[in-house]
Amino acid sequence: MIDRVDEDFRRIRSPFEGTLVRLRAVEENDLRPIHDMFNTPQVQRTLAITWPQPQAGTRDWWEGMRRNPDTAAFAIETLAGELVGECSLEDIHAPSRRAVLGIWIGQAYWDRGFGTDAVRTLCRFGILEMNLQRIALVVYDLNPRAVRAYGKVGFREEGRHRRGMFVDGRYVDVISMGLLAEDLVEE
Ligand SMILES: CC(C)(COP(=O)(O)OP(=O)(O)OC[C@H]1O[C@@H](n2cnc3c(N)ncnc32)[C@H](O)[C@@H]1OP(=O)(O)O)[C@@H](O)C(=O)NCCC(=O)NCCS
Repeated sequence: MIDRVDEDFRRIRSPFEGTLVRLRAVEENDLRPIHDMFNTPQVQRTLAITWPQPQAGTRDWWEGMRRNPDTAAFAIETLAGELVGECSLEDIHAPSRRAVLGIWIGQAYWDRGFGTDAVRTLCRFGILEMNLQRIALVVYDLNPRAVRAYGKVGFREEGRHRRGMFVDGRYVDVISMGLLAEDLVEE
């Protein structure tokens, strides 16, 4: 009986809704707040971006992403509707049923569980709706917050590119992490 309730619940639950955040399309109105939240040294330090983009760069990203069939990108908003970041599945490869995950959350919203919930929701969508069997990512070995969030969702370290990135005047390792469909940790 309990299984039956769970099945019914799953059928009516939006695949884009977690316990704290909702994933939705990135709208034109979002470009300015996305630009402002993304173009900060705190957010960009742990991403492969080394200098700020003009607003036109944010628009180029949005237009390019919408045209790219190998990318699914989403705005992350709280359940109350406040925009807090962006996440994506990229390099979607249908024959091997895999994709690469990317995410950032505006610094004002860090450490409130939004990143973990967004990663879990995106992976759940990838697995249950897109039929992915593997989701991969890379993270710098100076980003314990991200490693912790990914680990809680079920990602495991799979390898390490020693001195793979130059950040803050020093080399850091780049950690490869992966999640197989059966690894996803629900709350
Ligand atoms: C990485 C990122 C997406 C995480 O989002 P978030 O909303 O802050 O993450 P959460 O609040 O869900 O989880 C963070 C966890 O890390 C923990 N944490 C925070 N600082 C930490 C530290 N210095 N060492 C270890 N764990 C830490 C938090 O306590 C929390 O764990 P808990 O829930 O068990 O207490 C966000 O910080 C971000 O966008 N950073 C900049 C861009 C980026 O690095 N993107 C990922 C690139 S791979």
